[in-house]
Amino acid sequence: MEIFESFFKSSFPLLIAHRGFSAIAPENTISAFKYAIRSKADMIELDVRLTKDGTPVVIHDAKVDRTTNGTGKVKNFYLWLLRDLDAGSWFHPKYKGEKIPTLEEVLKFANGKIPINIEIKSSTEKDKLTERVLAVVFENGYDKKVLISSFDPRILKKIKKLTDELPTAFLYHYPVYFNPAKTLEKLGAIALIHNFKFTTPKLVKKIHDAGFKIIVYTVNKPDDIRKMIDIGVDGIITDNVRLARRILNEI
Ligand code: G3P
Ligand code: CA
Repeated sequence: MEIFESFFKSSFPLLIAHRGFSAIAPENTISAFKYAIRSKADMIELDVRLTKDGTPVVIHDAKVDRTTNGTGKVKNFYLWLLRDLDAGSWFHPKYKGEKIPTLEEVLKFANGKIPINIEIKSSTEKDKLTERVLAVVFENGYDKKVLISSFDPRILKKIKKLTDELPTAFLYHYPVYFNPAKTLEKLGAIALIHNFKFTTPKLVKKIHDAGFKIIVYTVNKPDDIRKMIDIGVDGIITDNVRLARRILNEI
């Protein structure tokens, strides 16, 4: 946790590669993560779901249809069948043969070079998925370099029941009508990850005054990136880390 906190020490916001460098490579694939590392992202964001045989895999949607050549729900696939799918061609023919990675494969690939924000997607398998994700994180020595997030507060509560060692963040998509500090405290989270469209200077101040962090998603347009830097957020989740870095360097 302390080590993770050090990533927030920089005076600039962290630049977080949304599903990897997803502007130039198929989202949530090893290629997208490779380019995120090469582009000097501060952190990678990815999404996890569970296969039928209980392996956490890195994919955003509940179904494989949009990002592979297959059809059906991730939870109905055995791992070996899921691994047969092509997760690259939909984006560009040159990525033909790219696989849906397992979480373990990504952690081994990243090999401690970059912290990872693991978003646990909610589903009927959320308890098992959460347990498996934590196991993979610890087994691969990534416990000092993850931030685990979820839109589902039940998942964050479960993590806190299982371990006090992993920092968590609460994802929220709408204007914040609740007391953010109280909510984060109750969930044991260190940060709010918020839709940038509803992030105001007032909210940033409220969160900072209470000792928490605020990260925003998914910020892709130059003017929006500048605005978020200007209002002092702690992290910016973007599809294009290279662009965000350029803008940050200009300021
Ligand atoms: O974690 C921020 C962002 O990734 C949440 O939205 O739909 O891209 O997973 P989504
Ligand atoms: Ca996500």
